[in-house]
This record gives sequence, structure tokens and C-alpha cells, in this order.
Amino acid sequence: MRAVNAISIIQKKRDRNELTREEMSFFLKGYVAGDISQHQAAALVTSIFLNGLTDRELTDWTRAMIDTGTRLSFHELPQAKIDKHSTGGVGDKVSIPLAPAVAACGVAVPMISGRGLGHTGGTLDKLESIPGFRVRLSEAELHRCLDRTNVAFGAQTDDLVPADKKLYALRDAIGMVESVPLIASSIMSKKLAEGIEGLVLDVKFGSGAFKPDVEEGAELAKKMIALGRGMDVDVVAYQTAMDRPLGRAVGHALEIVESVECLAGGGPHDLRELVLLFGGEMLRMARVAPSVEDGKRRIADALDSGRALRVFQKVIEEQGGDPSIVLRRDKLPRASGVEPLKAWDEGVLDYVDVRAIGLAASELGGGRRDINDVIDPAVGLVLRAERGERVKRGQTLVEVHHTDGKGLAECEKLLRKGLVIGPEVAPSPLVLGRIES
Ligand code: URA
Repeated sequence: MRAVNAISIIQKKRDRNELTREEMSFFLKGYVAGDISQHQAAALVTSIFLNGLTDRELTDWTRAMIDTGTRLSFHELPQAKIDKHSTGGVGDKVSIPLAPAVAACGVAVPMISGRGLGHTGGTLDKLESIPGFRVRLSEAELHRCLDRTNVAFGAQTDDLVPADKKLYALRDAIGMVESVPLIASSIMSKKLAEGIEGLVLDVKFGSGAFKPDVEEGAELAKKMIALGRGMDVDVVAYQTAMDRPLGRAVGHALEIVESVECLAGGGPHDLRELVLLFGGEMLRMARVAPSVEDGKRRIADALDSGRALRVFQKVIEEQGGDPSIVLRRDKLPRASGVEPLKAWDEGVLDYVDVRAIGLAASELGGGRRDINDVIDPAVGLVLRAERGERVKRGQTLVEVHHTDGKGLAECEKLLRKGLVIGPEVAPSPLVLGRIES
């Protein structure tokens, strides 16, 4: 038998052969320990990107990723632990109103989230625009937050799937993000290490999604569901629209303002619809509600009664932030200028490139090119017209919130690339469907 070593593993996958569980475990542990180089990891990731993984390999790869770190466990909490994860999009702030609303209904939400990268914003970056808010929580702090508020918004700790931390940065640097097995294992390894009993997945489709194609999105959803079920976690996926940004605000502090509006029973209709749907599903999974419909009613009540907003205030306080931002928007970072982008024609507004809209917000200083870049939490976009709306020439389409004009010209170029004013738009539902196996 040939001795297991990094080169033979790379060659095996390069030549489209199946890897064993031992080989994957050897490779990932060696990579995390620094015994396997970035070059070798890049070669294996590229081979997986090009040649894929069988279902058996995907399960073993995901388990091997989890085993490079330690798993969280919240077994001391009697209530169900349920989470939600999105494959990422532009203006996607759903987690921020969702977690407190679900928590207000008696379910614990240990939400380990990510940073923004590329054209997408990250939940953690948005929360950090609240003065003082800390997301780098130790395991003990995660337990304390969950115990006191039913919510913890935390960053991936150093011990939680360290293989993914390294691999994700590597994939980003070598252009190997958009692969079904690599995305599925990356997302599910982190979620399955979280100690949850149920997970709702929001799999985006459309030009602002990492996997724009509906069929490929469904394939990704099915792989993630199978990985969850294989490890006794109930997983349901929804395919939802990212052929337009979600809500009106794109930018960190601006999205916190919109999240607070939603938590207070208002906010944009599409944001509220997804919060009700995912919240209803999470309550059904937790057996707090007998059906998704009943769960949606309970979430609506938590939002409209102010209970969800009060939980959010407690969460902010527990995580070191200033809860008065809920009433005092002026305490959030504010851009130094606001510039309107006006309609250059008359007709019906549509989005042809949502990725460009996300990149437009990035250009203002709101995004990262590299994981170590510092972002400007005040800048961003407020969309003043919706997809499908009839607009007049000269009407404001987008408010551009900028800091001293930084990135304005490039931002405007990208907005004009992403938006189109035409005769009509094709119908496209916000929620395409539910996938459960
Ligand atoms: N989000 C993740 O956590 N991993 C991916 O690979 C893509 C999106």
C-alpha cells in the first residue's frame, strides 16, 4: 500500500478518484497544523472544484472539517436550539430581526455568523456598527448570552472548524468559492458544530447569489439537507430571490436601522415576509408551533407587540453595545454626505446585476477586498424605488450615503450597471419554494 501523503492525495483527486475518510482527515488536520502548505491545499481545493466530491466523500470531508476543531454544546439549555443560515446576498439582514423574534417565542438561537466578503455584507459587520457591540465571544460568553436572552450573535471561534477558516480565505484568494461541495461543506461544517437541533437554510438564487442558477441552488440545498440529516439535525431549505437586493438598505448601520424597523413591526415587506417564514419554520422545528403558519402568526405577534425589539435591546446590552440606538438612530455611525442617483429615463425599474449593486456599496468603503480590510460602517445605499415600480425621469432611485465622496464615481458606475429602466419586468417570486429532502 502507498503511504498516505499530501501529494498522493492531491494526485488521487486530480485523477478523479475517490478519497477515503482517512485521507481527507489526514489532509485537513495537516493543513490546520501547518504541515501541509497553502500550495498543496490550493491544489486539492482546485481538484475538488473541478472534479467534485461523491456524496460519501462530501459527508466524510464535512465530518473531517468539523473534527479539526471542537464542537459547541448547549445541552444545559432546556429549550430547543435552532439556527438559520443564508448563502449570502445584498441587503440580506434577515438574521438580525429574526433571531430576537424567534428568541421572544422561547427558542434559543446560537447564531454563529460570518463577515462580509466580495459583494455581500456580513451579519457580524452589521452588528458591529452598533457602538460597543462585541461579536468575538468566548464559549463561556456564548453560553451566558444564550442563557440570558436566548440569542448569541457570535463570530466563529478559533476552535470551531479551523479548517474552514483557512480554506475559506484560501478559496477566496484563488477564485474557488463557487463550488457546490465546497460551499455545502463550508456552511454545514460550521452549523453542525454549533450544537443545534434544527436549521433553516435560505438558498439564494439570482444575479446577487453565489450560485445564481435555480437548479444549482436546489442541488446545493439538497446536499446541505442530506449532510444535516446524516448528523441528526433537522434541515429545511427555502430558495429565495436575490435577483434584487433584500429590503431597501445596503450598508452596515443603514441595515441596522432597517432591522430595528422590522423588529418594531414595520420595515420593508420583503424583509418582514422572510422573517415570518423562517421564524415560523424555526418554531415548528422547535415544536413550539404545530405548523409553519401558526409559527408565522406567533412571530408576527412578537414583532408587532414590541417583544422582539425588547429582546434585541437585551442582546445588544449583553454583548456590550449601546441599546439606546433602538430609539436614537443618531447614535449609529452616519455618513458625511448623501448623493441621489436619479432616473435617467422613464419606465419600469429592474435589476440586471445585483452583484454590481453590492460592489457599488463596497466601493464607498463598505466592503472588503481582503478579510483584513477595515470597513466604513456609515456608508451604503438606500433604494428609493422597487423592482417593478414605474419611475419618472429625474426621480431619485438610490440615495448614496458616502464619506467625503470616497468611491462615489465608481459606485455610480456600478449602480448604472446593476439597474435598468425598461418597458416591463418578468414576474419573479420572493420565495420560490421549500425543499425538505
Ligand atoms: N458561506 C460560507 O460560509 N461558505 C461558503 O463557501 C460560501 C458562503
